[in-house]
Amino acid sequence: MKEKLARNISIYRKERGLTQEELGQILGLSFQAVSKWENAQTMPDISLLPQLSRTLEVSVDKLLGYASQNRPITIYEEEYRTQDYYWGTEPNKVCYQVLQIMPPTKRLKLLDIGCGEGKDAVFFARNGYDVTAFDVSDAGIEKTKKLADQTGVHVNVFKADIVDYRLDAHFDVIFSSGVLHYIKPEFREEIIENYKRFTHPNGLHIFNVFVNKPFIAPPPEKEPNAFKWHSGELLTHYYDWLIQDSAEVVFDCNSSGIPHKHAMTTMIAQKVTST
Ligand SMILES: C[S@@+](CC[C@H](N)C(=O)[O-])C[C@H]1O[C@@H](n2cnc3c(N)ncnc32)[C@H](O)[C@@H]1O
Repeated sequence: MKEKLARNISIYRKERGLTQEELGQILGLSFQAVSKWENAQTMPDISLLPQLSRTLEVSVDKLLGYASQNRPITIYEEEYRTQDYYWGTEPNKVCYQVLQIMPPTKRLKLLDIGCGEGKDAVFFARNGYDVTAFDVSDAGIEKTKKLADQTGVHVNVFKADIVDYRLDAHFDVIFSSGVLHYIKPEFREEIIENYKRFTHPNGLHIFNVFVNKPFIAPPPEKEPNAFKWHSGELLTHYYDWLIQDSAEVVFDCNSSGIPHKHAMTTMIAQKVTST
């Protein structure tokens, strides 16, 4: 918990545009005290938590690294509560490319970030990968478990918020489709670095991210915590990996019942290490 608290203080302080000195001043402390919290050397006194959470405009729960229990964080929570599979049960096309590039001829650990109702995670498990998946939606997690059970495979699925969650174990394949826009631009470098660091040599990242295009109207769903990527931005994080594939596609979407279009960058990058 100490590490999570340390990271969250740093993240939310920067998000509020405060320096360590300014936060210290508000709380009647030195900047060194704040710096020690952020380096996980010490923890704030419990009596300071209410003022700290007010100043950083974040609940104590969230500051301590627990996803907020009272705020529906995704618009999909309601959609996933029905019997039907909102995104269907057929895997994304790019999953077949993963099979081709890195078939599970040995035990390969795969992570699906923002797995939704589990169509891709279950596809990978069915094809022999050792799959871990998370999403912020309780209903999505339940649906993923149900789909895995029905298919007779196991997916290690849990609830986590992409904004707070960091990897501390290595994967061979990290996959995410239509989710990374929930990371604010200023946190992308740090989060992608964490994903890259916890990828085994020769491992793959397969990411689909929504991108802004001037000729595409904003989607009908209003999501205050979504921030589309710039065209080309994703690749800038992978200058030191081998780009196996990259494309930008525009596709029709009917989610929410209103026909609209999205632009998406798809990228497959490989962590090639020197021989
Ligand atoms: C467009 S859907 C994609 C779902 C799935 N990857 C798929 O392709 O079927 C976006 C997903 O991101 C999840 N999500 C939204 N905000 C999130 C967050 N902060 N952390 C983790 N997942 C989040 C939603 O619950 C939803 O399942």
